[in-house]
Amino acid sequence: MELPDELPQLYKRHIFACGTQRPPMHPRGSCGNSGAQPLWERLGQKIEALGLGSEVGFTPSGCLGFCSAGPLMVIYPEGVWYRPQCDADIDTIVAEHLQKDVLAPDQVVVLSR
Ligand code: FES
Repeated sequence: MELPDELPQLYKRHIFACGTQRPPMHPRGSCGNSGAQPLWERLGQKIEALGLGSEVGFTPSGCLGFCSAGPLMVIYPEGVWYRPQCDADIDTIVAEHLQKDVLAPDQVVVLSR
């Protein structure tokens, strides 16, 4: 099978949201145990309801590596990480980042280098 030299850009932005679920007392913790699933359901519903599905890809992902900090999601191409805690945080991220093209600073997670 021959692969194309370039793949088309499907979305303006692509969100990866960790859905990993570990046992409750697991030492690494998990986004699933931090309440991720209902938040990602709301995020998917908001994207759909606002008609953003053609420009925003939304992919539930496996572990993103910072398990105790969850629930975590990252938006590309900016590479901005968010830690929403409630439905209102999801609404803010959608309204600010996805609709207005600005950061939702209260939910941003700063990764140290
Ligand atoms: S379980 Fe979500 S980042 Fe590891």
